[in-house]
Amino acid sequence: MKKLMIANWKMNKNGKECAEFLIEFKSKYSNKIDAWIASQPLYIKLIINENVKAGLQNCSEHVSGAYTGEVSSRNFKEMGGNFVLIGHSERRQFFGETSKTCQAKLQTVLRENLTAVYCVGETLSERESGQTLAIVSDQLHQGLNDLSAANEENLVIAYEPVWAIGTGKTATPGQAQEVHSSIRKILSEKFPGFGSKVRLLYGGSVKPDNVEELLAQKDIDGGLVGGASLKAKDFLALCGDK
Ligand code: PGA
Repeated sequence: MKKLMIANWKMNKNGKECAEFLIEFKSKYSNKIDAWIASQPLYIKLIINENVKAGLQNCSEHVSGAYTGEVSSRNFKEMGGNFVLIGHSERRQFFGETSKTCQAKLQTVLRENLTAVYCVGETLSERESGQTLAIVSDQLHQGLNDLSAANEENLVIAYEPVWAIGTGKTATPGQAQEVHSSIRKILSEKFPGFGSKVRLLYGGSVKPDNVEELLAQKDIDGGLVGGASLKAKDFLALCGDK
């Protein structure tokens, strides 16, 4: 399975910074690891024009209509977009996203022939009270319910412990592997035909100096990266191009 590194730029970077990043990145990227980028919708076209797989960080569950302020996955596909992050913890925390609303978005995104990157993960208090596996399992069962259009190409799961996002605290490779192996098991049961082949990404303070150890784990197939994806040099290092 080829590893996958996704840059999540969140609401960072202006147009000039996006363009500069892409020039530097493209000049050194060797394609050892798949590299995808999720930017603000405003800058998606810059990414598509550089032939890099481009993603939204959220989208509407609807494809068109009177939904002021929303972004349509159908129109995103039409302009050449490739994937959508769904259920990122910042969406769950600040914008009322639940596994149920994620399920509707997952259905829409897959129906529109885009790849869905479904994000799950526990908070610090949930980990400390021993609920990690129960929380992640519940997020998976609810979010991935009734997804007849899913396959190993168009579905990616990102495990991101909330306490490790943007905090500099990374889950140890052992902690991440433990959850990833449970996720693999759940997916294999839920999707007997292809579940074991779905790529599982780890996210939460992934950096050039911890990425190797994380990627060496049996069930970690790549990373979803915020902070360390903002500089081309760091993202290149994460993609194995130093
Ligand atoms: P981080 O963010 O790499 O800055 O921890 C990861 C994410 O939010 O996807």
